Amino acid sequence: MDASSRGSASAAHPRRFLRDGLGFFGTFLKSPLSVGAVLPSSRYLARALVGRLELQPGELVVEYGPGTGPMTAVIRERLPKGARYLGIELEPRFHQLLVRRYPTLDFHLGSAEDVAAILAARGLPRPQRIVSGLPFASLAEPAQQAVVSGIVGCLRGTPGDFRTFQYLHAYGWKTARRFRAMMAERFDGFERVGPIVRNVPPAFVLRYWGAK
Ligand SMILES: C[S@@+](CC[C@H](N)C(=O)[O-])C[C@H]1O[C@@H](n2cnc3c(N)ncnc32)[C@H](O)[C@@H]1O
Repeated sequence: MDASSRGSASAAHPRRFLRDGLGFFGTFLKSPLSVGAVLPSSRYLARALVGRLELQPGELVVEYGPGTGPMTAVIRERLPKGARYLGIELEPRFHQLLVRRYPTLDFHLGSAEDVAAILAARGLPRPQRIVSGLPFASLAEPAQQAVVSGIVGCLRGTPGDFRTFQYLHAYGWKTARRFRAMMAERFDGFERVGPIVRNVPPAFVLRYWGAK
């Protein structure tokens, strides 16, 4: 994974950064648990999380919880020709913004818990990569379990992997540990990168592969 990220969205697009920050914070105030953060991720974290996609034409990357799209921007830059992308976002306001901002990519308004049904309805193959911005530490146990089962259903028996992040300050929370324990039971491979200290707040990147 690329942990040595350079450049920042704030420097490149200061007005967009401010607009996204304010919009994101407003959505957080309405749905604090499902949004799970007060600011969008930085480009430093996005680059470390997305890493190298290494997809063949026709292969799929799915992004969970793209929000205002910081990870989406990096995925779009790194998406090999002919590879496919689907973002699954729960918040209608973020979904609308994503559809407008990334017209060449596909977005589904709904829950990552329903990934199998969403892929089937769209005639999409099982993904090789799942990149997640979901706030697992603030999700209730049944929601964590449903999302983890969906990820395993997608990746079992494939060389594919799952990538997510957890904030440094929340890493020891019971809910964060419960999520990692669930993942450890269902995956053979795990690596942790970071913390990415130039993100606010700093966060670890977690990667899982070898779904059982
Ligand atoms: C911590 S924010 C991350 C947003 C963005 N990826 C980033 O890094 O700035 C969590 C995102 O997950 C979305 N979300 C929460 N639960 C979800 C679910 N079950 N399915 C899809 N998206 C979900 C929220 O609406 C929000 O956009």
